[in-house]
Amino acid sequence: MKQLTNLSYSLTLLITLVLNVNCKEKTEKKMKEEPIKTATIERSEYGTTTDGKKVALFTLKNKGGIEVEIITYGGRITSLKSPDKEGNLKNVVLGFDNLAQYEEDNPYFGALIGRYGNRIAKGKFTIGDKEYQLAQNNGDNNLHGGLKGFDKQVWDAEISEGETSVSLILSYTSQDMEEGFPGTLETKVTYTLNDHDSLDVLYEATTDKATVVNLTQHAYFNLSGDFSKPILDHIVEIDADHYLPVDSGLIPTGELASVEGTPFDFRQPKMVGQDISVENEQLKLGGGFDHCWVLNNQSKGYREVASAYEPASGRYLEVFTDEPGIQFYTGNFLDGTLPAPTGNYEQRSGLCLETQHYPDSPNQSDFPSVLLEPGEKYMTKTSFKLSTK
Ligand code: BGC
Repeated sequence: MKQLTNLSYSLTLLITLVLNVNCKEKTEKKMKEEPIKTATIERSEYGTTTDGKKVALFTLKNKGGIEVEIITYGGRITSLKSPDKEGNLKNVVLGFDNLAQYEEDNPYFGALIGRYGNRIAKGKFTIGDKEYQLAQNNGDNNLHGGLKGFDKQVWDAEISEGETSVSLILSYTSQDMEEGFPGTLETKVTYTLNDHDSLDVLYEATTDKATVVNLTQHAYFNLSGDFSKPILDHIVEIDADHYLPVDSGLIPTGELASVEGTPFDFRQPKMVGQDISVENEQLKLGGGFDHCWVLNNQSKGYREVASAYEPASGRYLEVFTDEPGIQFYTGNFLDGTLPAPTGNYEQRSGLCLETQHYPDSPNQSDFPSVLLEPGEKYMTKTSFKLSTK
C-alpha cells in the first residue's frame, strides 16, 4: 500500500512538473509571439469615389496618444491628433469630414503631391531634346502635378506593424505620359508613426524613362486645434539664410536672396504675424508667405530644418528632411468658402511646411536637379515630430 502511495505521489509530481514546464514554455512562447505593442494601425472603409473606387481609412496610434488618420484617396492625412501641454487631444491639421468634399476642387488638404510638387513655369520643360507640355492649371503654370495629380489618385495600401511603430505603405503607378510627364513612375510613400511622436514620410520612386520628380506632403497645420483661429500667433523657425524670390506667377526668378533684414528671416523663432503685413514686394506677390526657402546644411542630408510652436496650447512641431528646400505657405488663398468643423476655413487658418526641391527646377539649371533616370531610385524622407513645451 505504502509502495502504491509512493508511486502515485511520484506520478503526481512528474505530471505537475511536466505541466509546469509546458505551461512555462507556453508563456515564454506567448511572450515571444505577442510582444506588448505600443503602436497600432487599423483599417476601415471611408467611401467610394465618384468614379467607383473604394477608399480606405487607416488610423495609426502610438504610446504618446498621437492619432493619425490617412485615407487612400490622395494619401491624405485627414486628421492628426496630438496632446497639448495639459494632455488634451485635438486634431491639428485642416481637413474635411467626407470624401465628396475632398474630391471637389480643394487646396490639397493633407495630400501627397506629385509628380511635381509646386510650380513649373508655363507647364513646360525639356529633357534632352524633347519638350514636354503639362497642364497649365495655375495661371500659365503647372501646379502640384496638374489636373489630376497624386492628390486625386486612389493609392494601394499595405500595412506593416512593429512593436513601437506602425507603417502605412501606399503605392501608385503613374503611367507613361500621365499628366504629360514621361516615364512609368512606380511610386511608394510610407507613413510611419513611432513612439517618439514622429510621423515619418518616406518617398520612393523609379522610372523607365528619364523624367522629373518632386514629391511632397501638403498638410495644413494649425497647432491650436481651433481652425477658426488664424495661424498668425504661431512661432516659426526656418533654418535658411536664403529664400527664392518669385515673379507674379510665383515662379522663382532664379535669384537666391539673403533673408537678412527682410520679413523672410526666420532664422530665430518669429511670430508668423510679425512681418506678414509689412510693405514688401515679395509678400504682396504671395499674398503673404508662399515661398521656397533655401535650407542650410544641405550636404548634411536628413536634419532638422524648421519648426512651429503655438504658445497657448504648447504644441510644438519640428520638421526634419533631407530635401534642399521648404515651401512655407501661410494659407493665403483660403478664402472662407470651404467648410471647417465650425464655420469655414478663413484665410490663414493653416500653414504648410512643404519639404521639396525648388519650384521650377526642371527649367532652372542652377537649382539642384530633379531629374530621375531609369535605374536610379528617388528616395527622400521627411518627419513631422510633435511635442509640447
Ligand atoms: C502653393 C500655393 C498654392 C497652394 C495650393 C502651395 O503649395 O505654394 O501657392 O496656392 O499650395 O493649395
